[in-house]
Formats: sequence, C-alpha cells, structure tokens
Amino acid sequence: MEASGFSRLFHNFENVVEPKECRKIGTVPGYLKGTMLRNGPGMFEIGEDKYQHWFDGLGFMQRYHFENGKMFYSARYLESEAYAQNMQAQRIVAGSFGTATFPDPCKTIFSKYFSTLMHEAPEKHDNANVAFTPVGDGLYACTETPYMYRIDLDTLKALGEADFSKYIALHSCTAHQLYDENGDVYNIGSRFGPDSAHVFTVTRNPKNEQSESNHSWEHTKKIGEIPASDPLYPTYMHSFGMSENYLIMFESPVRVNLQKFILRDFINATYRDCLEWKKNEEVKVFILNKKTGEKLDLKFKMDPFFTFHHANTFEKDGCLVVDYCRMENAGNFRTLDIDNMRNGEFQNDLAFLPYLTRVIIPLSIPTTVTPGQNILEPLDWATGYSAILEADGSIKLTEKRTCDVSMEFPRYHWEKINMKEYKYVFGSTVFGKVNENPAGVVKADLKTGNHLIWNRENEHQICGEPIFVPNPEGVEEDDGKELGFFEKTRKAGEKLLTMKMCKIKFYTFL
Ligand SMILES: [Fe+2]
Repeated sequence: MEASGFSRLFHNFENVVEPKECRKIGTVPGYLKGTMLRNGPGMFEIGEDKYQHWFDGLGFMQRYHFENGKMFYSARYLESEAYAQNMQAQRIVAGSFGTATFPDPCKTIFSKYFSTLMHEAPEKHDNANVAFTPVGDGLYACTETPYMYRIDLDTLKALGEADFSKYIALHSCTAHQLYDENGDVYNIGSRFGPDSAHVFTVTRNPKNEQSESNHSWEHTKKIGEIPASDPLYPTYMHSFGMSENYLIMFESPVRVNLQKFILRDFINATYRDCLEWKKNEEVKVFILNKKTGEKLDLKFKMDPFFTFHHANTFEKDGCLVVDYCRMENAGNFRTLDIDNMRNGEFQNDLAFLPYLTRVIIPLSIPTTVTPGQNILEPLDWATGYSAILEADGSIKLTEKRTCDVSMEFPRYHWEKINMKEYKYVFGSTVFGKVNENPAGVVKADLKTGNHLIWNRENEHQICGEPIFVPNPEGVEEDDGKELGFFEKTRKAGEKLLTMKMCKIKFYTFL
C-alpha cells in the first residue's frame, strides 16, 4: 500500500508538445494571464536502469499558460547532453547527483587515469533540472553546475547552451540565482582545491549594456570571494540570501569531502557520496558587500542546521533579517533516495523536516556592548532573538522558528516587497507527514506568528511550490491569488491541478 502520494512521482513522464486546454471548474481572475514554467526531474528509468535519488531524474519542463480565463498545458524533456547520452545508450551513462554510473564498461581505471593526464574534457553534468533563471530576455534552465540551456518560452525547446565557467572559473554554483529590479543576476559558486572558496558573482542585465545579445551572460564578474573555513571540506549550498547591500551565505555542516571528490571517477563515487554531515561544525555566516566586494569583518556562528531555500532578506536598524526554511540535520540527503520516498520512509526523518525560521544579524558591534551581552537587546522588534558577543569577539546568533507548520519552497510577493520588510511567506508542506499533517499550502504571517492552511483534498495529492500572483491593482501585500499545485492522477491519464484559493480546478491530460 502506498504510504504517500510520492510514489506517483517516480515514473517517466511524457512530452506534451502541443499545448492542451485543460478542463476547469471555477472562475479565473482576469489578471491571471501569462506563462509559468516549472522545472524538475521527470524521467527516472532508462532501459533497465533506475535513478536512485530524487535529484537525478532527467530535466522535465512544464508550461502553464493562462489566457482569457483558460489554462493550456504542455511539457517537454530538456534535451541536454546527459539526456542524449542516456537515450542513445538506453541506460544511465551520464553522471548525476546520487546514482552511480558505468559510462563505458571497457574503460578501466587505467584508461580513466590516462584520460585525466591527457586533459580530456570532463563530463558536463548538464541535466539542468532544478530551476530557471532569467537573464535579459532569455530564460535559462539551470542546475548546480555551470552548464545551462536557454529555453523557448512557447515551445520549451532548448535554444542554445551557456557555460557560466567561461566567465568565472567555478566547479559549482547555485541554481537559485537572485535578481533585482534592474534584472541584474546574483549568484554564489564554489571553487574546489587547496584554496577552496565561495565566489560571489553578478551578471549585469545585458539589455542595459552594450551586449552581443539581449540574453548574454557576458557581463558576468566576480564581486568577491570568501575562503572556505576548511579548504578540504568546503560547504555545499543550495541557495543564499540577498538584501539591498549584502549577499549572505550559510556555511553549513554539509561539506564536500574534496579528496573523495577528486577521486570520484576512479572510485565510482557519486557527488552525494562525497557529501558529509559534519555534526560538530557550527554554521558560519558569511556576508559580502554587493558594491565593494568586501567581506563583513565579523565572525558569526550558529548551531548546526541546513537550508535548501531562503525566503526574503532585508535590512533594518543596522541589522540583516534573514528568513529561510531550516532543517535540523540534512545528513548527505540520503533521506531523499527514491526508495525512501516511494515507501514514505523519508517522512519519518523528523530532523529533515524544514521549518520557516528567521535570524537577525547585527552589521556592527556597538562600542558599549561587552562580552556576554546581546547586541539585539535594544531592539523591541527583536524579542526572542539574540546575537551574543563572545569573549573571542565572535557573535553567537540564536534564530527563531516563525511558523509552527513545516514548510518548504518559500515564496513571497516579490514584486512588492523583495529585500523589504514584509509580512507573508507562502510555502508547501511537501515533506510533511500525510496523516499527521494534511496541509498543502501554508501562508505564514511573520508579524503575528499565525498561519493559514490550505488543505489538500486527499493524501495522494502532493503540493508543489506555491506561486503568488499579485493583483496588479492590489494595495495589500497579500492581494492576489496563491496558486498551489496539487498533483494527482485522477483517472487513467488524467492529472488534477487544483488552484484552490482561487476556487479553480484545472484538469490536465497526461
Ligand atoms: Fe531548490
């Protein structure tokens, strides 16, 4: 018997090339128009081979187009090199996050060694199945390597590739780039080696510069870099925070064992095999000035945790306020092995359950503060948080959970309050236990600590990342509609998408 609806995710999806109009129940608000794309793993079995980890599936892009009160659905696999290699071989030959591959049975350890000596091009790892990033008028499918594909918003076909490492030498970068109202794109990548460092970058909007095209990454430059605390164990990060003047990253206990990483091709280790949870490592917070590239010269530390996704970040009264979904212990993400997800076992890992959390970080130490004192003490809005000055000059930060219900994929009214003080975060209870936690979408009120829950209709539905669509004539931060996508097979071949806060249901045919 299925323990949750998750087992339904791990089959191969089919391309839907021609947009299909979906059946609908309810009324669509007039301002709901335009196109939304979602990216994610969609093919889990190739020939006899099966991927082992949720992050591994081949990139599958889904398009939801709203027009005249109707919704049209289409979907397509990203035709990356990884996709082409796997299709041709009819087995899993391209490397991935958590599935071991045997690209060429004839290739011995010695031939691999000589390939390396001969500086053969390394494998691209271009299965860009995580997110999309807009650059100028281009939209790029991304993963955590420097390889991306520009996507046609209408046909979902790949229009060309981009290689971020052409501009900045990096081994990895987050797929959750952040951008500002100018369309400038910010990211943090990592360079591995004896001088392992986290490299903070900006890509200026090519439409505002002299550019070879309006979707070019050419105006990418390094803002600054911060050395890893332990160069042989640099941290893994999935996203970061950005305020008006600063970029913020958490150096979490999820670390890359570099020795293993360098040898991975010889010992047939996956990237996940190279990750370790260093349980005794405190989280260090690195803050870089976006304009000067200087690192804030303060040492911040927090009890161990990991975050996949940040919500908003803003500056207030000389402090940074950083919101994120916090996991107590992410291990090396074995919890998200497909076997664990199919049988629902992953939901028993309570330390893996993410909760919306806030930390308040002072940007300076007042001269009046002495060791043992809380720098945040004078701030009446910071009750329950602390930033204690320690004897060695470091600052110990204590965070606070801001919503009692587990939530992931935090979203907010970006157009109105990005990098500003705000009130509402929307998220999905995607990892929550079905029986004890039947919620689908959560709306957290950061001012009152209350939340609203939008329940799933049944345990087989899975709620993806909710998207907030603002009412263009709205005044309030939450004037708009929250689109929560519940996916479930209704009848054979029929998939239900419910947007319940709008009282609309769409049925797509897959
Ligand atoms: Fe993500």
